[in-house]
Amino acid sequence: MTALPAGYRHEAFPVLPSTNDAVLERLVGGDVGGLWITAESQSAGRGRRGNVWSSRVGNLFASLGLVDPAPAEKAATLSFVSAVALHQALVDVCGPGIVDRLALKWPNDVLLDRHKIAGILIEGQPLSPGRFAVVAGIGVNCEHHPGTTGPFPSASLAGLGYRVRADEMFTALAASLANEIVRWDRGAGFADTRAAWLGRATGIGAPVTVRLPDSVREGVFRDIDDEGRLVLGLPGGGTTLITAGEIFFRQRAET
Ligand code: BTN
Repeated sequence: MTALPAGYRHEAFPVLPSTNDAVLERLVGGDVGGLWITAESQSAGRGRRGNVWSSRVGNLFASLGLVDPAPAEKAATLSFVSAVALHQALVDVCGPGIVDRLALKWPNDVLLDRHKIAGILIEGQPLSPGRFAVVAGIGVNCEHHPGTTGPFPSASLAGLGYRVRADEMFTALAASLANEIVRWDRGAGFADTRAAWLGRATGIGAPVTVRLPDSVREGVFRDIDDEGRLVLGLPGGGTTLITAGEIFFRQRAET
């Protein structure tokens, strides 16, 4: 068995409702953090925006629990740390030839050949006064994937030519996320994380439609700011900052 980076522990289960819930429960129960929980399958896997995350045996379902990993206002940027780490883990496991086929999509999707092959769900919970728990839940479609429709249909690594076992993926991810958490430096190093994310991102400078919880905005994806918010260039000039939403790339107008 491959050792985990120093300071981390790992518990593996055949099946859990959700590895995110299992980790949060442990942190609320007094775990000090640095705990990874994986499951071979999940019976109630959760995605962002309340979506179900399809969780069949063969894919990776992993959650890392941390206690007070950064000042509260910086904690959400752990999603970019996780995305950069997942990108690196995929390169480590699949080889450098995958790099040109991989891209990060705001806020924290990982695309292979423009197909979603992984998802990241960051959740938090207050603990005793002044302390809080954060969990980074990561799912990787090693063997299976759900539907194939939409602007960014999903796919599996196997379907796109990479045979990777969930446990190999986990070992690489645990190592790369530990490294990225060091670079993040409790949020003080987010400028470096941001630069790494931007260097791997798709769609900077592209016309996008942003779907928000209760509206839709159109503009140009200019940048992400020092909190990871999307900087959207507006059609009439100026910019607005988007904290959470889903982006869809539009065709560029003919010039
Ligand atoms: C997304 O919607 O893109 C995020 C998906 C996150 C799925 C992972 S699988 C491990 C962890 N446990 C869950 O219930 N969800 C996350």
